[in-house]
Amino acid sequence: MGRTVPPRLRLLLACLATAALVVPLGLMWRSSLLPDSYDMAAMGSLDLGGGEPVTHAHHGTAVASLVGDTSGEPDVRERYVVSKRDGRFLVNGSTPGPVLRARVGDLVEVVLVNENVADGATLHWHGIDVPNAMDGVAGVTQDAVMPGQSLTYRWVAEDPGTYWYHSHQVSHEQVRKGLLGAVVITPATAPRVAVDEVAVLHAYGTTFTVNGTEGASAVPARAGDRVRVRVVNTDNTALPVWVSGTSYTVAAVDGHDVHRPTPVEGDSVLLTAGGRVDLELTVPAGGARVEYGGKAATLLGGDPGKTRAPRERVDLLTYGAPARLGFDPEEPDRRFEYRIGRRLGFLDGKPGRWWTVNGHTFPDTPMYAVREGDVVVVDIENNSGESHPMHLHGHHVVVLSRNGVEATGSPWWTDSLDVATGDSYRVAFVADNPGIWMDHCHNLPHAADGLTAHLMYDGVQSSYRVGGKAGNEPE
Ligand code: C2O
Ligand code: CU
Repeated sequence: MGRTVPPRLRLLLACLATAALVVPLGLMWRSSLLPDSYDMAAMGSLDLGGGEPVTHAHHGTAVASLVGDTSGEPDVRERYVVSKRDGRFLVNGSTPGPVLRARVGDLVEVVLVNENVADGATLHWHGIDVPNAMDGVAGVTQDAVMPGQSLTYRWVAEDPGTYWYHSHQVSHEQVRKGLLGAVVITPATAPRVAVDEVAVLHAYGTTFTVNGTEGASAVPARAGDRVRVRVVNTDNTALPVWVSGTSYTVAAVDGHDVHRPTPVEGDSVLLTAGGRVDLELTVPAGGARVEYGGKAATLLGGDPGKTRAPRERVDLLTYGAPARLGFDPEEPDRRFEYRIGRRLGFLDGKPGRWWTVNGHTFPDTPMYAVREGDVVVVDIENNSGESHPMHLHGHHVVVLSRNGVEATGSPWWTDSLDVATGDSYRVAFVADNPGIWMDHCHNLPHAADGLTAHLMYDGVQSSYRVGGKAGNEPE
């Protein structure tokens, strides 16, 4: 037989229970609110990764001064006028914008002119390890360029490969609606292939396109021609790419040549969101067909016909032959964790199921801190229920292992790494590019929902603020 609780006591208990729930919720809500403007480098939870302390000095090296050596006359000079028309963002009147082409050693100058993009715009050089002040992140490496304004980017093309540019202001909207284009940096010597083709993949709403065109597009090529197709995934999700009609090699991944790539027969290669693969093949008599997830294709010298997505996939962990890394990741100066999860909570006061990094929602995600010259190992782990294409600005990372299995193929250098849920990757890089760098998911709505962390260097001082009068909104 239970004792009856007097009504007044019951009411008091109910009130206490409600308060016990509401007060912490209210505190959580309030602590999630972002200030009107903030210094990105002063946010986040500082993570030294077991290394020497660092300072975010007020008298340190300002981000704005990290411009590299770009004296002299530019070898490549472009003017990119960005505009918004009929719900799309254009570069020089088209989307995708023009392909920016340079050769190794060239000094590249691009003047960004904002015609009428009301939120402002920037140009980020995805995969190109430019000096920090040229990285194009609104609120971190520059202020957004407002309508009527312009800004000059200058950097030296150092590494040959396939890259792309896109706005990093309100990027989850501006990139999706077209403010992007490819960048091709060719070796200083003449190319080895007869046909060098760029294939920019992008979905405008539900319309899937290659270089802005729906369906299958034919590229002039003849039987016997050696062809390189530079496939750029500018979308938010990964997709398989394969070839029918002949075998192919994965010649490069994210702008880095694969060492001794072997012929692939029938299998597909997964192209990460934000990532690039360069495929090479020799056109057979009946022609070859490069398939992009079965949604669009490039035809070379004929059409061998549509094929279904192969079940087998090239595993970059074992593809190609080992080669020197140029550094030793065995005894790193710092070890970081980038553990991705998801939980109920508040993000800037909005309730929802938000992404977490190491258990925290943005802006309490890590501020990884390094000193120039450090060898850094990062364990990326995803238990969030969805895939995340992880992108660190300003550096290339090399994959050491996946789910504890060591990499045995060509060094797998990447800037856009698809981390499926349940998977973990160990990657390494050399901290050789001082600045404040984003390290985020390239499914851009995920980044806008807080899947963003940063890497900062000792002694580097912010020059810009997120939010505020400049209206900087990088994600
Ligand atoms: Cu493709 Cu943070 O960018
Ligand atoms: Cu993501």
